Amino acid sequence: MSTIIDGKAVSLQIKEELKEKIAAIKAEGKRLPCLAVIIVGDNPASRSYVRGKIKAAEFTGMDSRLIELPEDVSEAALLETIAGLNADAGVDGILVQLPLPRHIDESRVIDAIVPEKDVDGFHPVNVANLWLGRKCFVPCTPQGIIHLIESTGERIEGKRAVVVGRSNIVGKPVAKLLLDRNATVTIAHSRTPDLGAVTREADILVAAVGRAGVITGDMVKPGAIVIDVGINRTADGHLTGDVDFASASEVAGWITPVPGGVGPMTIACLMLNTYSAWCAISER
Ligand code: GUN
Repeated sequence: MSTIIDGKAVSLQIKEELKEKIAAIKAEGKRLPCLAVIIVGDNPASRSYVRGKIKAAEFTGMDSRLIELPEDVSEAALLETIAGLNADAGVDGILVQLPLPRHIDESRVIDAIVPEKDVDGFHPVNVANLWLGRKCFVPCTPQGIIHLIESTGERIEGKRAVVVGRSNIVGKPVAKLLLDRNATVTIAHSRTPDLGAVTREADILVAAVGRAGVITGDMVKPGAIVIDVGINRTADGHLTGDVDFASASEVAGWITPVPGGVGPMTIACLMLNTYSAWCAISER
């Protein structure tokens, strides 16, 4: 049996530490860090994620602004809202919840956020800086995954890491973060032949495919650290990961649950990035 990596506990510790830092800022009478979240339309999953982000901001004591725009808002109006937040000295971080309605060009929206306030780390300047090994906003989910791996006390250096999934939000950036820590990294994906042969090599296995239960116990190396990024909804409305927890937890050394693994870490890292944005602005 494997040890469960408790993302709720690790994320709570991060938020508690931030809460102290923000209390100190408040005690000094300084302007508090502020996160602006834009949501377009009323996709229930997006609404739930956004609620979580605003609640986390409130928990840490930082300020937040929730900007709710209708499903049929024009791209121009959304870009104008972003321009207003870019220019607003009271706002440190800007996040536009994805996905956006089909009539809006997601790339144009991401590009419109000034890189200094792009706490998602999705802007091309931040992506380029990540790959160049320069200072940048590290995307929240990949950053959270690294925290979870580190929480096991195992070293990343020298390990074989396999990332299944090649999205811009998770797969590609987490592979870079593992590479930065001297893991030997393989990126596998839906077209990888004999995926099990690849994943069985992994001391660290990150599953970010977006399909329920694709990683089964027979695909896991005994003792491996298994990080499940999947958030899939079953027919009966339950959340389930990309990893078949029952069989994988028989083989893995450590494993993250869904929910309660990577999800809370994404939000905690968003708070860390917003605090960093505030620090950078305050130091200017
Ligand atoms: N939708 C799903 N994950 C994310 C995320 O990390 N950031 C944003 N902005 N939207 C998302």
